[in-house]
Parts: sequence; C-alpha cells; structure tokens
Amino acid sequence: MAYSLPRLDGKRCLITGGLGFIGSNLAHSLVAIGAEVSIADACIDPYGWNFANIREIKDRVSFTKADIRDEKAMAAAVKGQDFIFNCAAQVSHIDSMTDPFLDVDINCRGNLVLLEACRRHADKAKIVYAGTRGQMGSLHYSPADEEHPDNPTDIYGANKWAAEKYHLVYNSAYGIRATSLRINNTYGERNQMRHAKYGIMNWFIRLALEGKEIQVFGDGSQTRDYNYITDVVDAMILAAQSEKSNGKYYLLGSGNEIKFMDMVKSVIKAAGSGSYKLVPWPADRKAIEIGNFFVTYEKIRDELGWEPKTSLDEGLRKTIAFYRERKKEYW
Ligand SMILES: NC(=O)c1ccc[n+]([C@@H]2O[C@H](COP(=O)([O-])OP(=O)(O)OC[C@H]3O[C@@H](n4cnc5c(N)ncnc54)[C@H](O)[C@@H]3O)[C@@H](O)[C@H]2O)c1
Repeated sequence: MAYSLPRLDGKRCLITGGLGFIGSNLAHSLVAIGAEVSIADACIDPYGWNFANIREIKDRVSFTKADIRDEKAMAAAVKGQDFIFNCAAQVSHIDSMTDPFLDVDINCRGNLVLLEACRRHADKAKIVYAGTRGQMGSLHYSPADEEHPDNPTDIYGANKWAAEKYHLVYNSAYGIRATSLRINNTYGERNQMRHAKYGIMNWFIRLALEGKEIQVFGDGSQTRDYNYITDVVDAMILAAQSEKSNGKYYLLGSGNEIKFMDMVKSVIKAAGSGSYKLVPWPADRKAIEIGNFFVTYEKIRDELGWEPKTSLDEGLRKTIAFYRERKKEYW
C-alpha cells in the first residue's frame, strides 16, 4: 500500500530533541509539508545535537534551548502546539548501565515532566513518542510483533519502556492522545559520527569512509533490522495525524533481516573503502547483547498505511553522499 504524507499547513509542531538525528530530520520533513516547527533541545553531550542539522531550515524553525526535565520550560514549549514529537532522550545503552540515575532522570522523570506540561497546558495536542526496539530485549520468536513480551536487557531499554507506558497512561487516564513507535536501528543523514556509543551503523560509515578497520564483535552472525531515516520520519508523521494510533504502540521494521556481518560488508562496499576484523565481545557489550532481532511491521502497515520505502543499498548511497560532502560538520 503506497502512502503519501498529509499536508500540515499552519499546524504547530514541537520537536523535543529536535537538534538530534531523528528530530532534525523530522523538522526538515515537517517544514516541507507546511508545518510551523519549534525545536526544544537541551544540547547535552555526547548526544547527537548539532546546529548543522538544521542549517538549511534555520530561518523556518524556532529553537529554544530547553530541557525536558525543566517544568517551566516545558510549560512554555507545549502551549498552543497541535503535535508534539518527543525525541529527547539519553540514548546510549552503555551509558545507561554506567550512569543509570542520569538515564532515569532524563528518560523517566523528563518524560513525566513533559506529559504533565501537556496535561496542564496542551491537552489537545497529539504526542508521538520515539520508543525503541531496545524495550523488547531478546526475542522468543521471529519476526516479533506487538504481542511479543518485553524483556529489556539494559537500563535504557527498561526506562524507555516505562516512558512509553507513561505516554499510554496519559492517553487512557486523561484523554491526551499519544502513540509510541518502537524505532529500529536507524541510519542516515544527520546522525552524530563523533563516537561509537550509539548509532553504530553511522559510526561504521565514518570508519569506512576514512579507510579504517571496523571491529566486529564475535562472529557477526547475529541478525538485525535497519531502517533508513526518512522512512522512520514518515512513520512518525503518519502516526501523528491518525486517530487510529491513539493509545497504541507500533513496531517499525524493514522487512529485510540481515546478518550484522553482511551490514558491515554492505557499508564497506558502498563506501568503496575500509576493512573489517572479527574481535572478541567486550564484557560490557556482551552483557546487554540481545542476539538476533527482526520484527514484522504489519500492524503499522495495516492501520496507518506505512511501509519502508528505502532499500539498504539506496539508503547507504544517500547517506554516504551526504557525509562525503559534509564530513567537516560531523566529525
Ligand atoms: N537512532 C536510533 O537508531 C534510535 C532507535 C530507537 C529509538 N530512538 C529514539 O529516538 C529518539 C531520538 O534519538 P536520536 O537517534 O535522534 O538521538 P540524538 O542523540 O541524535 O538526539 C537526541 C537529542 O535529544 C537531546 N536531549 C537529550 N537529553 C535532553 C533533555 N533532557 N532535554 C532536551 N533535549 C535533550 C540531545 O541534545 C539530542 O539533540 C530518542 O528518544 C531515542 O531513544 C533512536
């Protein structure tokens, strides 16, 4: 089922974490379909905020440096909004294990501050939460669907799970329309490439473009599911404007289960440089590794009409062309 994005002319959209990878790409798409976009981002390192991400649209979006944990700032940010795309987060799996209290502060308390601001000041706004595959942990069957039990293997996954439930509770208890998309591994333009803490495929693209060696933990035989950024952004916009999505969560998938090793080979091939080497799993990564991961996206396809449009080859080609041109802004 082919879909096209709706026009959102004059609709007011707030993006928390809007200077980051997913939030800034969303800002580009929302501007293109006529929305009035505001960005609230706390600009916290080592997350992916980067003013270069909104370079082309900086005169068409408004930006406020604001933290989702700040009640006053969130009250001001949510007032008058039609849609709120909630992308702000502590995003590193590894850091959530070394500093679990920071993770709970941003990913649990911060989301509650935002939701309370909506309850008091913007109860007509529709909220789309950027959930994660990490909420599900190791799979018991594959492809997994929305009925699959959730057993996150790290604090990030556990707290993102709790925050998804907060959104759905505000929907059921207060009638504040909210939906969550459990986003897969996502790659593409405007992702941070300064370190390997998260966004691993983009980190590998940098290494390959620099002609460096990519270290693959174990034998690289675990499978994964990768989505190109524009497909993810489209899903968020479709979820925002649909009433069917209220109070629900959806899995995003690619339809293409691929071995980690084959993803690495595809990156090297598309870049035309780089190499790889198998190395033993570091203990901190092994402890939170989930094994094979692949989901079906049937529910969001059937209810909202979304499906991924970009193949891995095409997505890699576009991503690599972007970073070849703009690497000075990203590493
Ligand atoms: N990229 C992926 O593969 C992926 C996969 C699943 C889920 N997600 C989710 O998507 C969302 C966006 O992730 P991303 O990949 O764009 O990461 P990112 O690091 O590029 O963007 C996150 C942004 O949030 C901002 N931020 C962090 N804490 C904040 C706070 N307390 N208040 C306001 N802003 C804050 C950061 O400064 C950054 O700009 C996150 O919720 C993440 O959990 C991402």
